[in-house]
Amino acid sequence: CLNTHIGQLPLDSYIFNASGPLCTSEEELIRLAGSASAAVMTKSCTILPREGNAEPRYQALPLGSIQSMGLPNLGYQAYLEMLPRLKKAGNKPIVVSVSGFSVADNVTMVKAFQSSCADLIEVNFSCPNIEGKPQLGYDFEQTEQALEAICQLGDKPIGLKLPPYFDFSHFITMADIIKKFPVSFITCINSVGNTLVIDAETETAIIKPKGGFGGLCGDYIKPIGLANVRAFRQLLPDNIDIIGVGGIKTGTDAFEYLLAGASAVQVATCFEKEGVECFDRIAQELQSLMAAKQYSSIAAVKGKLKVI
Ligand code: DHB
Repeated sequence: CLNTHIGQLPLDSYIFNASGPLCTSEEELIRLAGSASAAVMTKSCTILPREGNAEPRYQALPLGSIQSMGLPNLGYQAYLEMLPRLKKAGNKPIVVSVSGFSVADNVTMVKAFQSSCADLIEVNFSCPNIEGKPQLGYDFEQTEQALEAICQLGDKPIGLKLPPYFDFSHFITMADIIKKFPVSFITCINSVGNTLVIDAETETAIIKPKGGFGGLCGDYIKPIGLANVRAFRQLLPDNIDIIGVGGIKTGTDAFEYLLAGASAVQVATCFEKEGVECFDRIAQELQSLMAAKQYSSIAAVKGKLKVI
């Protein structure tokens, strides 16, 4: 009973992997294809293959993780070529994530994936970990210019991976921009960018890139993710779906995102820590919780948060 949809695309389950962990190599993606993940989501790609930032660049924390991977990926052409094999391996929806360094990069990659067997294209407007490159989603003017260029390249649904916002004026401005374009979904939120975790004993930042600044993930950011999903659900029309991400590791977390208005959720840190087993476990926990509450479908709960 966890079936849902993003735009017109049906999904057999409400839960899939977020772009980020364990979705870069063909081996990792084939494993996702054979898992209970509702879709196969790819690591954000760039025009050219990248090794990513210097290590250590990921650290698990008691309540999540901090990372500054720096977009290690195989380059978009490798994913283009791989997609038919992923489709064959899983026979499930494929979502490609693209993260160009310029509008021209994003146009090149979106165009290419428009004529591939990808089902959805998620354009990443929010990578915080490239030295000297701001998060596009924090620049409203450039966001609008980018949308003008990438939303008219084909019929495949386009979505945006957004950074977290913390002010109502920003939710409103961003929603007003999104409404001007045929955006099919948004994914909220990316990691909370440019945070700092310090090891007091060694008096050192715990990751190396950018002097220790990196994206915060996991339990720490769930209330931020819930707020972003809720705010955009209230501001955007119903035909724009919202995918929730940020601190989902139990059925209860997934249910909270559903109440806030998510049409589906993605799992990153918990997937990194637990592996592909997390998708079936979280789905079963969500199903049990919904059964106990006598809800029979995702649609029955979506956006039904009560306020006091
Ligand atoms: C990376 C991190 C992100 O949060 C993102 O959106 C894209 C890439 C990274 O460091 O690889």
